[in-house]
Amino acid sequence: MLSEAKFNILKQISGDFSRDETIWASGYLAGLAGAPLTTAQPPQQENHVSQTTTRKITLAYGTETGNSKKLATTLAGIIKKKGIQVKLADLSQYKPKDLNKEEFFFVIISTQGEGDPPLLTRKFYDYIHENEINLSNLKFGVLALGDSSYPLFCKTGEDVDFRFEVLGAQRIIPLKKCDIDYEEEAGRWIEHIVETINKTSASTVKNTSTGHVSAGRKKYNGRVSAIINLNDITSEKETYHIEIETDEPISYHPGAALGIIPFNSRSVVDEIITLTGIDPEKRIETSKVTATADELLIKYLNISYLLKTTVAQYAQITGHTIPSDIRLSLLNLLQIYPVKNADEFEQVISILTGQAPRLYSISSSLEAHGDTEVHITVSRSEFFVDDQKQNGLCSGFLSEFREGENFEFYIQEAGHFRLPQEDKDIIMIGPGTGIAPFRSFLWERDAKGAEGRNWLFFGDRNFISDFLYQSEILDFLKTGTLARLDMAFSRDSSEKIYVQHKLEQKAQEVFQWLEGGASVYVCGTKDPMSRDVEKTLLSIIREQGNRSKEEALSYLEEMELNGRYAKDVY
Ligand SMILES: Cc1cc2nc3c(=O)[nH]c(=O)nc-3n(C[C@H](O)[C@H](O)[C@H](O)COP(=O)(O)OP(=O)(O)OC[C@H]3O[C@@H](n4cnc5c(N)ncnc54)[C@H](O)[C@@H]3O)c2cc1C
Ligand SMILES: Cc1cc2nc3c(=O)[nH]c(=O)nc-3n(C[C@H](O)[C@H](O)[C@H](O)COP(=O)(O)O)c2cc1C
Repeated sequence: MLSEAKFNILKQISGDFSRDETIWASGYLAGLAGAPLTTAQPPQQENHVSQTTTRKITLAYGTETGNSKKLATTLAGIIKKKGIQVKLADLSQYKPKDLNKEEFFFVIISTQGEGDPPLLTRKFYDYIHENEINLSNLKFGVLALGDSSYPLFCKTGEDVDFRFEVLGAQRIIPLKKCDIDYEEEAGRWIEHIVETINKTSASTVKNTSTGHVSAGRKKYNGRVSAIINLNDITSEKETYHIEIETDEPISYHPGAALGIIPFNSRSVVDEIITLTGIDPEKRIETSKVTATADELLIKYLNISYLLKTTVAQYAQITGHTIPSDIRLSLLNLLQIYPVKNADEFEQVISILTGQAPRLYSISSSLEAHGDTEVHITVSRSEFFVDDQKQNGLCSGFLSEFREGENFEFYIQEAGHFRLPQEDKDIIMIGPGTGIAPFRSFLWERDAKGAEGRNWLFFGDRNFISDFLYQSEILDFLKTGTLARLDMAFSRDSSEKIYVQHKLEQKAQEVFQWLEGGASVYVCGTKDPMSRDVEKTLLSIIREQGNRSKEEALSYLEEMELNGRYAKDVY
């Protein structure tokens, strides 16, 4: 197609383009292709739009674990090939005031937590919900990413889609709700958008969202074969290493998690039955399942920490005046604001949301531990309600397991959190239970004899009581599976030392590893750990790589897009 000289020039100038710049440049060239050409060209294969109808759209994404971003980037590439100019926008950076400068605005956004927007898009989400902006010139469409195992499936996408309509924007494609297997559906969504905006007058469509019937997840039966508290008895924490045997082979990659739907406590459900007078054997139909009242309360419904919206609905049903912004357990609610009788409680049952799954990073490796055994590392979560110590539902449920107990789980692969090729170096930053996937990485690389070097940053409160998997980690160091180990025990010195301080101390070598192609993984608490680590990584890139703030940001962004910087934080 190009002479060698022209090809060399193109190669030279595009050599250090970021992925975004490459996508932009390909769109630019595609745009140029609409202008008169100096030589005869073969007819275009693509459904190409002529210069006069070329539209400019914004494709915005709101993400937590990177799926929406990856999808938006892929879809932007597809749209550009169709001759439509696309601006990719990250909703965590996007100024909502700019919305009324847009003509076509498409959003890909996931749902997190309990129906919440991704953390960094909260500002955007709140802005559009708290301000009466006039969006009557905006044409929009929303693709919602979610997971139908959660009770509030694709809630954030639904909210954004609804709110844009309320603000006067014109929906030109119905809300698309996608489950975990979203690629194909998303491909069709974008095709539909291209067709719609190619029509000169894109007309408004009604709010008839289209959902996706997922193939559903394969459920496995697991039996606890070992459960060990990894903390010393002097520790304030309890972290359980749980080994699970399965009857049938399982398959997963290091970085995947187990999804578990916990049961509610027998004693709490018994108290609820006594308080309300409901017949535990009465069969009740809810929107998702029909079961006895007892089964619903034990297995299917969230009774431990009700959503504010559920509390508000409870107030409506029972006629009590309840403050609008409180969250509490169903038992506490019934104790403070009792129901009149069993019939009223049946109505309450119908408004309870389903039990959400909890995820636990797999800490074993298929290669090292076989395909009928899987390990997790569970920190028992603790909190206080009216000065009374309480445990988190699922971590409490798992911590109290005894050997031989059975439970159901599924496997949640993490597309973005995967080991690179065996010869590539990795830096793992995982304080506390953040160690879990890295134990899996290390066992896997050890079993495979992978040549890439492995560097672990681990941290917790005290060396003596909280060095999780101490003997294994020290063995990995001895055998060379771990090339480097840096640890930060925050409460062992007067000055609090965390993993980011250790990273800072090793700035020069960390940067050398990055320049040599190492991948960086962060796992553990989202806030503040993962944010502090990210700030430190950026400052290392700036200072060691002599880069500006913006250049450091795009360096890390580029790493993320190439799968060399991944976070699994919660
Ligand atoms: C990808 C991923 C991987 C993960 N990996 C791990 C892992 O390897 N190890 C691990 O230990 N965890 C991991 N987690 C976290 C785990 O999924 C759970 O979020 C965690 O165990 C807490 O769940 P829980 O059911 O015990 O607590 P919940 O019952 O869900 O409670 C959570 C919080 O809600 C509040 N709360 C609950 N009930 C009440 C109430 N009645 N009144 C007031 N406040 C209340 C408290 O603040 C409490 O701490 C991971 C999460 C994700 C997303
Ligand atoms: C802790 C957690 C909570 C989630 N909560 C919901 C939820 O309430 N509703 C839902 O539909 N999906 C929920 N999801 C699923 C995500 O929306 C889904 O994995 C999505 O593909 C993530 O996209 P992202 O990587 O762009 O954030 C949750 C996922 C996690 C890890």
